[in-house]
Amino acid sequence: MKAKLIDGNKIAAEIRAEVAERTAALSECGVTPGLGVVLVGEDPASRVYVGMKTRACEEAGILTRDIKPSENISQAELLTIIDELNDDPQIHGILVQLPLPEHLDETEVTERIHPLKDVDGFHPISQGRVAQGDQSAYRSATPAGVQELIKRTGVETSGAHVVIVGRSNIVGLPMSLIMLQKEAGANATVTVAHSRTKNLAEVTRLGEILIVAVGRPEMITGEMVREGAVVIDVGVNRVEDLTTDKGYRLVGDVAFDEAADRASWITPVPGGVGPMTISMLLKNTVAAAERATHLNALEQPSLPR
Ligand code: GUN
Repeated sequence: MKAKLIDGNKIAAEIRAEVAERTAALSECGVTPGLGVVLVGEDPASRVYVGMKTRACEEAGILTRDIKPSENISQAELLTIIDELNDDPQIHGILVQLPLPEHLDETEVTERIHPLKDVDGFHPISQGRVAQGDQSAYRSATPAGVQELIKRTGVETSGAHVVIVGRSNIVGLPMSLIMLQKEAGANATVTVAHSRTKNLAEVTRLGEILIVAVGRPEMITGEMVREGAVVIDVGVNRVEDLTTDKGYRLVGDVAFDEAADRASWITPVPGGVGPMTISMLLKNTVAAAERATHLNALEQPSLPR
């Protein structure tokens, strides 16, 4: 293996330590950052994710308000819960774990969260502000975490050709908007490839930085990676493996061993992008609390900014 590993666990821990310092500073002003966490139903994967998020909050000094309505909650009842969290001054950020059960309208729920409390960064106001280069806008956790990994690895992004594979609203699309920004860790030339891209391997081989978020196990093979590229693998896929106790193992969207023979840096799965997403959620939540505290100090009304 030629590539060096980008250690997501280590970088995520650094960010959590920085968040803990900021919560301690807020605590001296009598403020405890608060995150409202809404988990609808019993989806096992969502329960695991939410458990990890609330535990990380506790460790960082962020208070969580856990609300776990049943699978059968109506849209109106769920919107009422969000309205209550929007109006609660002790709650600075709101997270509604996705996906929601089929009968609920995710878009309406996401848009009901007050933009000042949109720490997941999924509200169109947040996404639009990111697109327009507003540095104070909430960025969604996964693309923000990828950028942070690249920055803290010391990789030069300015003028580099970044190829992103995947165009989802949660990762690929916001990732492309972030990497275009005129700022440190961005300023890149960006290409977004997707399921309709012709000659995908020719496109991915252009990437000095290759970011893959498609949700297809080991789809990017070694020959699709440029020599010396920085490879960021956002995918987490279960594949059957009867040699393990669990009967499966986790792999990314990139065929790791082959890609690592050509890349200069690469993220492992697990232990790469995954740990960063929770750290970025904590960072957004503490920023929301700082912003609310500042607004209160100025006695400003709660503007949608
Ligand atoms: N489901 C999968 N990823 C996420 C995330 O980052 N936030 C929320 N709210 N739900 C998710």
